[in-house]
Amino acid sequence: MALNALDRHVALVGFMGAGKSTLVLPLAERLGRAGYDLDENASEIIRAVGMEQFRAQEMQRTLFALEGGTPSVFALGGGAVTTAEIREELTRSAFTLLLDVDVETAWQRCAGGDRPLARDEAEFRRLYDERRPLYREVADATTADVDGAVLAAAGVYHEAGALDRLGELVPGAGQVALVADATVLGLYGERARAALGDRCVATHELPSGEQAKQLAVVERLWSELPLDRTGTVVALGGGALTDTAGFAAATYLRGVAWVAVPTTLVGQVDAGLGGKTAIDIPQGKNLVGAFHWPARVVIDEELLGTLPERERRQGLAELIKTQLLAGEELDVRGAAAYKAALCLRDPRDRGVRNWLNLGHTFAHGLEAAADFDLPHGEAVALGLLAALKLSGRDDAPVRDALDPKPVAVDRERAWQALLRDKKRAGDDINLVLLGDDGPYVERRPAGEVRAALDSLIVG
Ligand SMILES: NC(=O)c1ccc[n+]([C@@H]2O[C@H](COP(=O)([O-])OP(=O)(O)OC[C@H]3O[C@@H](n4cnc5c(N)ncnc54)[C@H](O)[C@@H]3O)[C@@H](O)[C@H]2O)c1
Ligand SMILES: [Zn+2]
Repeated sequence: MALNALDRHVALVGFMGAGKSTLVLPLAERLGRAGYDLDENASEIIRAVGMEQFRAQEMQRTLFALEGGTPSVFALGGGAVTTAEIREELTRSAFTLLLDVDVETAWQRCAGGDRPLARDEAEFRRLYDERRPLYREVADATTADVDGAVLAAAGVYHEAGALDRLGELVPGAGQVALVADATVLGLYGERARAALGDRCVATHELPSGEQAKQLAVVERLWSELPLDRTGTVVALGGGALTDTAGFAAATYLRGVAWVAVPTTLVGQVDAGLGGKTAIDIPQGKNLVGAFHWPARVVIDEELLGTLPERERRQGLAELIKTQLLAGEELDVRGAAAYKAALCLRDPRDRGVRNWLNLGHTFAHGLEAAADFDLPHGEAVALGLLAALKLSGRDDAPVRDALDPKPVAVDRERAWQALLRDKKRAGDDINLVLLGDDGPYVERRPAGEVRAALDSLIVG
């Protein structure tokens, strides 16, 4: 079983009428990959050369495509999974997504069309029943839409009540160590342990919030984790907890698997996704860490029900940021899918993933000038105002949703912190800005950037 599509093709499988051909290009675009419909012209080919010849050609074409180098997105023919060689190659080189459809819908979509295999309804239903187990056998995940496909390709599972299914959602069969803080353990520890069952061999309580992100905390976790290399760290909590537990997993035994179960809005739309883990050192936040993609991310929005309002506001700022980047309104699932796609495109943060820093250059300057007494979400809300101003765009979406107020910090300190935070290009500063076609990175003169920063500060 493939856990994600990081270094693999995405292969869409499913019955006739499931919508594979419709999904393949939009999905490829989201993932920044080439997309190919391997089932194009199938009906004509079948009519011209017959079914047997068609299957032989389909096998050649499909194997050739899947054996190729650069990870791409392919829509396979509905019957491709009946060929054993194709099933084997899917296991080897693809993350296989089943685009599921019920037989009624499939028949409605296909009846009366030109598909040779969709002439007779009884035969159509028989084929459906015959192939269904084969789709299930090859599929790494099942999906119904583009966001669902992106999430699955990133290893993200989104479902209300998923906490109670943790046992089946933690890949593998090895032992599990549950890591959480006292608050979250009190709220959800029992349910998590019950869902994990016998596999859960230890529970580790970490300090709450940013207090967790310290070397001493990780050191204690290293010394207490009872896992061997088949084990999995399950990190249940906000971004600080998943950053810390994820970093411990990245380093323990040179890396064991981990599963993120984000319990805050920040965690579900941002921190829990994409495999960046980190702790703080006296020299600064997040300065020591590792890229370590979680074996799975489990997003259960029901867990947000107990989140204090001030924590929710932190997440709202990142959600609004993501909406601005995407150019549309998004719910938690949509925002998670947006970030997941950028991270899949750029797992090591060398290109498009940087877009997620919209407004953050300013936010980091303000936070440092406030000795990190300013909540990140409030700093981001202010930073978004500045980014929109420099983009020449209306800032009403940010003002309406977040209503950020200028802060009283030392202007010069904020400016110096902003400069330290940025790789400078001469006197210009690289910023993520927002255009009509989405985000882009541009160098702006220092004076302009300083003026935008100053407008976020009072006194
Ligand atoms: N790795 C990344 O890509 C990434 C991205 C963004 C932010 N982060 C990091 O995330 C951290 C911030 O995370 P955060 O905003 O989630 O806050 P947090 O992790 O500091 O948690 C905030 C508080 O909320 C409580 N809490 C968590 N879930 C709860 C729930 N369901 N009900 C009630 N209380 C709950 C916790 O006990 C904690 O006290 C920062 O350290 C930041 O650097 C990392
Ligand atoms: Zn942020």
